[in-house]
Amino acid sequence: MYILGISCFYHDSAACILLDGNILAAAQEERFTRKKHDPRFPTNAIQCCLTVAGITINDIDYVVFYDKPLLTFERLLMSYLTVAPKGLLSWLEAMPLWLGKKLHINKVIQREIGYEGDVLFTEHHESHAASAFYPSPFDEASILTMDGVGEWATASYGFGKGKDISLLKELHFPDSLGLLYSAFTYFTGFRVNSGEYKLMGLAPYGMPRYKDLILSELVDLKQDGSIRLNISYFDFLGGLRMTNRRFARLFGGPPRRPEAEITQREMDIAASIQVVTEEVVLRMVRHVHKETGMKNLCLAGGVALNCVANGRVLREGPFENIWIQPAAGDAGGALGAALSVWHRYLGNHRRDPKGYDRQHGSYLGPSFSNGAVKTFLESKGYPYHKLDGGGRPTIIAQKIAEGKIVGYMAGRMEFGPRALGARSILGDPRSGETQTVMNLKIKYRESFRPFAPSVLEERVSEYFDADRPSPYMLLVANVKEERRLPQPSREGMPMLERLKAKRSDIPAVTHLDYSARLQTVNKDDKPDYHAVITEFEKLTGCAVIVNTSFNVRGEPIICTPEDAYRCFMRTQMDVLVIEDYMLFKEEQPPWEEKGDWRSELELD
Ligand SMILES: [Fe+2]
Repeated sequence: MYILGISCFYHDSAACILLDGNILAAAQEERFTRKKHDPRFPTNAIQCCLTVAGITINDIDYVVFYDKPLLTFERLLMSYLTVAPKGLLSWLEAMPLWLGKKLHINKVIQREIGYEGDVLFTEHHESHAASAFYPSPFDEASILTMDGVGEWATASYGFGKGKDISLLKELHFPDSLGLLYSAFTYFTGFRVNSGEYKLMGLAPYGMPRYKDLILSELVDLKQDGSIRLNISYFDFLGGLRMTNRRFARLFGGPPRRPEAEITQREMDIAASIQVVTEEVVLRMVRHVHKETGMKNLCLAGGVALNCVANGRVLREGPFENIWIQPAAGDAGGALGAALSVWHRYLGNHRRDPKGYDRQHGSYLGPSFSNGAVKTFLESKGYPYHKLDGGGRPTIIAQKIAEGKIVGYMAGRMEFGPRALGARSILGDPRSGETQTVMNLKIKYRESFRPFAPSVLEERVSEYFDADRPSPYMLLVANVKEERRLPQPSREGMPMLERLKAKRSDIPAVTHLDYSARLQTVNKDDKPDYHAVITEFEKLTGCAVIVNTSFNVRGEPIICTPEDAYRCFMRTQMDVLVIEDYMLFKEEQPPWEEKGDWRSELELD
């Protein structure tokens, strides 16, 4: 039985196909349309899933949508009425899409993909909860979901046992941890639903000076982790902005304009909202543990992408084990909705996990054969070298050890926002230069942003204070004490200067506070990538490499060989590997494009 799950029309549209409950394929629409966080109907992602499954739409038994649009419409209407006539502008802006598409999802689905049957609907947080629990390795676990907002719910908790999920309680709009974080994302000049990750990356540069102010003025944090927002500071109920003038007065001036210089104020605000978020999450987690009495915890919803908070949950929280859905945001809703139909609606039992869990390493997207890559390269006349199977990892590792920046595309594309070695840019973590070069010359992004380490799973505890796998880059752990180097006082030092101080023997992946966003690489889930790091260790004694997503700022992660080549040529990347083919920058013909490609990408 085939089930197709769809999420779309808010942000991060995606599709997923299950065969008898097993995840066959899942992909985000942005990777195909090349528009970051694309919210449009996921025609391409659905086609990709059908192709991977080797079927047509006529073979699909059930189609399910990850959210109940009527309930969301009700919430928007109620919110508007609360603040009317103030929110008229945003109301008018939202209406055409609602009346045209969102309220008629089943008709849209029938029209777009020619599906004749009925469309099922799951609730938004039910989709998140299902995406957290069903693919996890646990037979039973507590579940916590946290995001901006679904229909009404902004967080929910409960537990899963075998094929069943019971959700016990919800927190409702407008009291939302996700919206609170997004409000600060907006206020510090980053893009909402996109720049939250940057705000988290900025936090270690600041001091949490505003923590008490946030907790006294903006957020009433209860013992059980539930929150009440003081809505008089926010504008998201009816406005087009997240925060209002009153909010600005509280933080000493207007929001930072996008792309303006980042000052100490923004760094301190980032540190403050980050620590408040961690406090809220920790309280929620403790409450969920008390109420459910289980030893495992599953997380999903956009807030679960906050890997710093996740790291604290693991270290300080009451749960023995945690598992986080790698596509924790709304893309993962497509997966959760499909799994919910298979287990909850149809009553089917879960199958045993293969390996670490039931998520297949999240390598669920399309792949390209060596034949297809060769055809592409030859049709364009791009010079290449064929790597033979045995020597492949060694030569790639050699290039990284020489300080080259390597674009690496191999196997099935990742599902979820993090690149996990299938669509990654790789570099040498031992060099202090790597972070600056990769940020400024490859990614064309803010210099403060840290990079993540990929480490051999069997070596993780030699480098980091971590005793378990972190395959999805969703946990932060500290670099081991003995690898750290003392740092000078950073007070008053410009941001770029602070970055130059070497912080450990793997400086390119060590954040200012000695933390790192860890990906552990397992031989079974990703043998090609594991082999590259293994060879790198043989050459250098270091079992860690730098892994950042294969894209430039504002661009979705690459999907096809063509995307890979374009990104390779637009940047100062030295080497490109696509499957068993290797290309060197100096051998390529000059790259010419009409116009300025950078102006086509939206700033994120
Ligand atoms: Fe969500």
